[in-house]
Amino acid sequence: MTFRIAQISDTHISEEDMYQGVNSRKRLLEVFDIVKNKGADLVVLSGDLAAKAGGLEIYRWMKEHLDKLGIPYIVMPGNHDRVDEMRKVFSWPVELMDESEIFFKLEFHNLVLFFLDSSSGSISQKQLEWLKEQNSTSAQTVLLFIHHPPTLLFSEYSRIEQKYGLANRVEFFEVATNISHLKAIFCGHYHIAKEIEIEGKAIYVCPSSMLQADVKENEIGTLPELYGFRWIVVQDQNRIESEVIWI
Ligand SMILES: [Fe+2]
Repeated sequence: MTFRIAQISDTHISEEDMYQGVNSRKRLLEVFDIVKNKGADLVVLSGDLAAKAGGLEIYRWMKEHLDKLGIPYIVMPGNHDRVDEMRKVFSWPVELMDESEIFFKLEFHNLVLFFLDSSSGSISQKQLEWLKEQNSTSAQTVLLFIHHPPTLLFSEYSRIEQKYGLANRVEFFEVATNISHLKAIFCGHYHIAKEIEIEGKAIYVCPSSMLQADVKENEIGTLPELYGFRWIVVQDQNRIESEVIWI
C-alpha cells in the first residue's frame, strides 16, 4: 500500500488578501492546484490556518476551497487559531476526543495517524494521558502530526525557542517516543523546512505555504519569495519518504 499525504502548514490567511507583504490566499490556492495535480490521498493542514487569531470568515473561505479539492482533508489548530471557531466550520472523519481541543487518531489498514492540539502552546495532560493509552497499537507504521516542533530546533538559549517553543516539549517527546511503531513526527510553526532525527524518530518540519522565516539566534527575518508544502509518501515495509515542494 502506498499512501500519499500533502502537509500544508502555516497558511496564515488574513481578512485582507495581503499579510506580511504577500498574498497568502493566492499562494495557498497555488499550493492546492499542485496538490490536486499530484493526487494526494490525504491533505493535512497542520495549524496556523489563520493569520492572527482565528476568524469565521477565514475558516469558511478555507473550507470552501478545501471542499473543492475533492481530497479528504484534516485541519489542525495552531497558536493563531481559535478551536471554538474551527469546530463551528469544519468537521473531522472521526469523533474528537475532547470538547475543547482537537485531537484524535485515524487508522488506514496498517497505518495510524495521530493528530494533536498544541494551540495553547503546550500539550495538555488530557492528551498526554490519552497518548499513553495508545502504546499497544499494533499498526506497522505510526505517524504523529502536531503544530509545534516536539524538540528544540535551535539553541536552548535562543530567545526564539524560549518565546515560541512548545512549553512541555520534554515531557511530550518522552510520551510520544514511547508509542509503539512511531516512525515520524510532522510539525510546522516556524516557517522553515527541516528534517532531523532524534532517538531514532524522524522529525519533519513543514515550510509555510505563505512565506519562510529566516531564523537567527535571537531574531526572525522573512524570506518572502519562498513558499511551499511537504509531500509525504508511506511505502510498503514502513518506508517513509518526504520532500519539500517549493512553488
Ligand atoms: Fe505557529
